[in-house]
Amino acid sequence: MHLGPDLSVEFAGIKLPNPTILASGILGVSAEIMIRASRAGEGAVVSKSFNVKGREGYRNPSFIQVPGGYLNALGIPNPGMEEMRDEVETVSKAGVPVIASVFGFDAPEFAAAAEMGQKGGAIAVELNVSCPHVKEVGVEIGQRPQAVAEVTRAVKDRVRIPVFVKLSPNVTDITEVAKAAVSAGADAITAVNTALGMAVDVDSGYPILGGVLGGLSGPALHPIAVRAVYQISRAVNVPIVGVGGIQDWRGAVEMLMVGASAVQIGSAVTTQGLDVFRDVTAGIAKFLELKGLSSVRDIVGTATKHAPTIS
Ligand SMILES: Cc1cc2nc3c(=O)[nH]c(=O)nc-3n(C[C@H](O)[C@H](O)[C@H](O)COP(=O)(O)O)c2cc1C
Repeated sequence: MHLGPDLSVEFAGIKLPNPTILASGILGVSAEIMIRASRAGEGAVVSKSFNVKGREGYRNPSFIQVPGGYLNALGIPNPGMEEMRDEVETVSKAGVPVIASVFGFDAPEFAAAAEMGQKGGAIAVELNVSCPHVKEVGVEIGQRPQAVAEVTRAVKDRVRIPVFVKLSPNVTDITEVAKAAVSAGADAITAVNTALGMAVDVDSGYPILGGVLGGLSGPALHPIAVRAVYQISRAVNVPIVGVGGIQDWRGAVEMLMVGASAVQIGSAVTTQGLDVFRDVTAGIAKFLELKGLSSVRDIVGTATKHAPTIS
């Protein structure tokens, strides 16, 4: 019997059947959709980000297509942590590994939401310190290494499950923020959230998005995300989850080669549907076979090792 290459990954205390994960927010808050997504073949799902009290979100349009990807300014709409715990629990009880994505206006709020995720059965919690379009949460924390450390420490003190810190590309030096998160106990880094962008309707002269500024995702974000993962992998010694503009197996392999232990896929689901997970996983397997490699872990960080040291 021919056994294909081993696609399972194990990092930061979690084990997944393959390295593909549904990125936060792409399919909204519903447990049912997350469960359906998992049947499509990905290794785990990340929940929509939630906070203690919930949020309404911004007025439409909140999601538009731009050259090279999408801009969104949803404003992290969510029903609050009590309801989200139930959603996380439903997904988890259906046998789907779920990572709870949380945010807050201060460190205690992050910790409270993270604890709810843990109660719901999440295998890990991902701290969204990087949403570019919501004032006072997100990137206003994520751009300050000290604030990231404070939030990370508060969550680490409260939960037993692994803590992933999701970083923003909208910073001068992402390695400084990664180091702050790791020094405060982060078990893994997720990189990256969307890049801050904007679009104007030239006929009316108005900004298009209801929230004016939005986050750029999709293919245009990919090289920025690869660069971020590469830099982070050389700066800290914890596993990295790579996210940003992955469209196919090549994009996923690229991320793994610069040091990611797993990848998240978001916007590609909008264009390719949930089949993208099976396609990416099959593509990685074929690539490994062609290269004569027995495990996906064999390609993690290979490009980082090959890169010359540039001063
Ligand atoms: C519509 C939409 C909603 C998102 N919501 C969240 C969210 O709630 N929390 C979060 O951490 N990231 C959120 N993101 C960012 C994605 O998880 C991901 O980091 C980003 O889109 C880059 O990956 P991609 O190019 O594969 O989409 C959202 C992205 C989109 C497009």
